[in-house]
Amino acid sequence: MAKERNSTLSRRHFLMTSSAAVAATAVSRAAATSIPQQPERLRLAVIGTGSRGSHTWGRELVENYSDVVDIVGLCDINGKRVEASKTLIGTAAPTFTDFDRMLRETRPDSVIVTTIDSTHAQYIIRALELGYNVITEKPMCTDEEQCQAILDAQKRSKNTVTVTFNARHGSEDKKVKELMMEKAIGDVLSVDFHEYLDTSHGADYFRRWHRLKKNSGTLLVHKASHHFDQANWWLDSAPVEVMARGDIRFYGRNHAFRSTHCRACSYKEQCKFYWDVTRNPTYVKLYVDCESEDGYLRDGCVWKEDIDIYDTMAVTVEYENGVLLNYTANTYLPYEGQSISFNGTEGRLDYQSYGGGGHAAKELRLTRSFGKSAVITDLPPARQGGHGGADASMQDLLFRRKDDADPLGLRADLRAGALSSLIGIAAYRSIEQGGAVIKIADLVKF
Ligand SMILES: NC(=O)c1ccc[n+]([C@@H]2O[C@H](COP(=O)([O-])OP(=O)(O)OC[C@H]3O[C@@H](n4cnc5c(N)ncnc54)[C@H](O)[C@@H]3O)[C@@H](O)[C@H]2O)c1
Repeated sequence: MAKERNSTLSRRHFLMTSSAAVAATAVSRAAATSIPQQPERLRLAVIGTGSRGSHTWGRELVENYSDVVDIVGLCDINGKRVEASKTLIGTAAPTFTDFDRMLRETRPDSVIVTTIDSTHAQYIIRALELGYNVITEKPMCTDEEQCQAILDAQKRSKNTVTVTFNARHGSEDKKVKELMMEKAIGDVLSVDFHEYLDTSHGADYFRRWHRLKKNSGTLLVHKASHHFDQANWWLDSAPVEVMARGDIRFYGRNHAFRSTHCRACSYKEQCKFYWDVTRNPTYVKLYVDCESEDGYLRDGCVWKEDIDIYDTMAVTVEYENGVLLNYTANTYLPYEGQSISFNGTEGRLDYQSYGGGGHAAKELRLTRSFGKSAVITDLPPARQGGHGGADASMQDLLFRRKDDADPLGLRADLRAGALSSLIGIAAYRSIEQGGAVIKIADLVKF
């Protein structure tokens, strides 16, 4: 509790126990904190203490941002995991399994939502209702009802929702935005965006909770919301119509044998996708040792017949400014990468990457029509850290440079969170309806 004994909390504690504040506790925090305060450090409460909550929004904040961020509470539905996370993070913050109780007892400045995708909406809405600012992991929501409910909750609230689109923060990604703002290839008419996931990273989605549409909204929401957000941001436009096709052609039922999970499998020797979770001590602490609480198996079988997300996807999006985006994602390939081409009236911009995450080899090539073709080397400086430094760049903007100008528009708000999720939602609705055209305006009212 040492971290909580800072002057901000002492003052809050005094206010809480004074007669004025006792009355105020019955109403929302917005009213309870009506006395202007300048907290030295952002008091952050974390809901969802799995991998992302424990590392990017836990350990990394303690190691790199403890001068500006104070983690004041940790909450998860799994009581063992939240305790394991506390140890991994190395924080003295109190732990909870009840979200409202965490907010009541810790009085944070902001809540960060890092639970599984389909549960983000409930915590975003509840935090807004109680008068807290929200930072949420992507995707902001997994269906249109959740999206509408968040938009409506925001209208009733004075607080903000920020979505953590770290994929905007890579050096090449920022450079693409600069080139788009400069109209380096004239007007963009279409974009070809291809995502390739391999038999390790790609397969992992089919082992975990992501394998069920009710949890992740399929990879068109869970994974592709990064890419749809990039497209929306780069093009500075909003999607209007979406058409898609998708199927499960590799994982799930497409195999001769299967088990519940790798540890219990009798085909360990034969299965190329056998994966031993016990070789990772952190995963043992976060998942294996916590199975008694919720039965969640981190090493689920990629061949389970209940998998209902797609492994092969093709989407077409039409934008307000007329741009056509052709997007594909495949999840079972020998190597990872991306191939993104912007086709413009005065040239073409190709953004290729080979390999995954922070280890990818990337190339950005600008070719002017009737002109030269050159690899772009004057990239914005890269930070060290997760996702090729993109996580640190985003954390800097959120916690160290929160009042700084943002000429590239790197900060992603509720609208960006909604539009990126909505393309994925429209895509899976289209697939459910045999490739029908889905209008974004028919899904939610902004
Ligand atoms: N931006 C990125 O690059 C990035 C990377 C990884 C994960 N993420 C996002 O972070 C989130 C968490 O992913 P993860 O990889 O840490 O998953 P995880 O499975 O490791 O953790 C999810 C946690 O949510 C908890 N949880 C589930 N249902 C809950 C509920 N109803 N209430 C409270 N807690 C609940 C689980 O117990 C678990 O601790 C996801 O939304 C994911 O999309 C983003």
